Amino acid sequence: MIVANTRDQLHDLLNKPRNHQTVGFVPTMGALHDGHVSLIKAARKQNERVIASIFVNPKQFNDPADLHRYPRTPEADIELLTDCGCDILFHPVESEIYDGSEYQVPDLGFMETIMEGVHRPGHFKGMAEVVGRLCELIRPTRAYFGEKDFQQLAIIRFLASTKGYGTQIIGCPTIRESDGLAMSSRNILLTKEERSQAPVIYEALLQARKLFMDGNESEILKKYVQKVEQSGCFKVEYLYIGFADTLKEAELFDPKRSYRIFTAVRTPGIRLIDNIPVGH
Ligand code: PAJ
Repeated sequence: MIVANTRDQLHDLLNKPRNHQTVGFVPTMGALHDGHVSLIKAARKQNERVIASIFVNPKQFNDPADLHRYPRTPEADIELLTDCGCDILFHPVESEIYDGSEYQVPDLGFMETIMEGVHRPGHFKGMAEVVGRLCELIRPTRAYFGEKDFQQLAIIRFLASTKGYGTQIIGCPTIRESDGLAMSSRNILLTKEERSQAPVIYEALLQARKLFMDGNESEILKKYVQKVEQSGCFKVEYLYIGFADTLKEAELFDPKRSYRIFTAVRTPGIRLIDNIPVGH
């Protein structure tokens, strides 16, 4: 694997033997785990060249403390990417991405008015800007994103269609620890006690799904909060059931439709998000 730290290095690598080669791109913020690896592997299967990026994007952190403590493990990341067959890692410093040039993020509309959009003001604009800038530099054939961040994936799909990068957006399923906790770079910031209680989030989502599918929607929120908060480690920020395509809020289960149940929970130190599918 070749590591490019500057746009010029990246540009040289991309333009040399590029002719007609398909390029799969996996943007990340590093502290890589098996969730990221699954994206690299999917890209490896479908493209001739695979490029990953590691950039902890300050513009998408609405909380400076979260940015400060975001885990950074570059040596381990490089080893992991090499092992799973990544060809190029783009690992820039901030001035390589934010070089003073203008970048217009389109209005994200409804998508920014729900869930993470409400609880992390400015987060999606910052995320959209960095993904847009990276895609414009790399011009990938396909770009890979995890369903773990389902609202992010929906926003990227919207952007790719409005901005017309000519990039196909591929969503990949959430990878979980064996006890059900969705893998996340932030999980290593959990205390021992919080980590041992964390599978309750997935268990409570499964319980919510059953209540929704059984038509017991009035009990969903109360039971979800009860289950998650009885651990004493987590506070529920939101639970939201939306249609899988539009993310508009859904109230009643219809077996012909697909939904997603979303949540964010907090410990005193960090915030975790997760979601599961409902229906086909
Ligand atoms: P990061 O949190 O590093 O995640 C990079 C990619 O890995 C995202 O597409 C995310 O959805 C995916 N991912 C994370 N955990 C996963 C899991 N358990 N299973 C499957 N996929 C998982 O998301 C970001 O970075 C940033 O917002 C980024 C898109 C890089 C823009 O800065």
